[in-house]
Amino acid sequence: MKVLLTGGAGFIGSHVANRLVLEGYDVAIIDNLSSSSSENLPENVKFYHFDINDCFVEKIVETEKPNIVIHLAAQTSVVHSMKEPFFDFQTNTAATVKLLQYAVEYGVDHFLFASSAAVYGEPLHLPISEQHPVNPQSFYAVSKYAAERYIVNFAQQYNLTSTILRFSNVYGPKQNTQGEAGVVGRFISKIVEKENCIIYGGAQTRDFIYVKDIADAVLKAIVAKKEGIYNVSSNTEISIRQLYEMISEKLSSDAPPSFLSYRDGELHRSVLSNERARKELSWHPIYSISEGLDETINDFLLCNEFRMEGRYNEAYSNQYIGTITQG
Ligand SMILES: NC(=O)c1ccc[n+]([C@@H]2O[C@H](COP(=O)([O-])OP(=O)(O)OC[C@H]3O[C@@H](n4cnc5c(N)ncnc54)[C@H](O)[C@@H]3O)[C@@H](O)[C@H]2O)c1
Repeated sequence: MKVLLTGGAGFIGSHVANRLVLEGYDVAIIDNLSSSSSENLPENVKFYHFDINDCFVEKIVETEKPNIVIHLAAQTSVVHSMKEPFFDFQTNTAATVKLLQYAVEYGVDHFLFASSAAVYGEPLHLPISEQHPVNPQSFYAVSKYAAERYIVNFAQQYNLTSTILRFSNVYGPKQNTQGEAGVVGRFISKIVEKENCIIYGGAQTRDFIYVKDIADAVLKAIVAKKEGIYNVSSNTEISIRQLYEMISEKLSSDAPPSFLSYRDGELHRSVLSNERARKELSWHPIYSISEGLDETINDFLLCNEFRMEGRYNEAYSNQYIGTITQG
């Protein structure tokens, strides 16, 4: 079974790629490495170093003839989306429409898309189920929701099964700690480096889901091949302050964070129901927040050790040896 995975060098994409290879799928990846590194790629994948907007992408789909497309490549910064909405639209919406056209043209059976809890906006009730009204409040959320609508319409008009997964806040090894979503990694790195941690507000809650549970949900979704929209979340609400305290305790730190006022537009509470994914995709999260944090911290400390010794690549035993096609 051939899978074309976009964004496969990224944080979530590299975990998905690892699982696909482990499960025996034939994997081709397209990534422009704009927010990632080829060091994240697993062995035995074919790698196309291209932008998803590049016209050569059609040739890739035609040549690879994938059964399944897993589309994770995206511009993921909310702040950047507000500064450059057209760039965000091109990467997250327009490129998705082009991929859908190629999927139809070259006989793809199943199209899986990574969407986001951001499409719901400020919740009217908790936990947020898939029936909750959408109210995207950033251009990033608009671009993801617009892509969703194209996917649903393509699936209705053509013989293409589509699955949309709306992820809550994902954390785990290989996450870019500079990113907006990387609060777990940022807390860990600041505490380890004995730097001051700033918390804006602190009482706001989020639903953190471990990246290996996300990869598992993607794998379960391609096996189930169900048409629909699914939240993929832990269904557990935790405040940013509690998160900081858990990480501090695990790292035996008693350094207090600095508290600043809430940032404009920040959601107060967020937790997503994962009931539908549990029932229809036979998936459930395996990792508790404590277990996920333990693995993330251990990975961070291991990578730090290797980094200090200049042996970063050895931090991951699965160093990339696939074919690189340059864009
Ligand atoms: N991390 C989260 O908490 C979270 C939550 C909800 C949804 N998502 C979605 O999951 C997906 C993966 O996110 P992530 O956290 O792994 O981010 P990431 O930035 O680590 O991964 C995105 C990957 O896409 C690649 N990419 C970006 N623009 C590209 C382009 N134009 N052409 C080719 N490749 C391109 C990047 O180089 C990177 O490897 C995204 O679609 C994101 O919107 C993530």
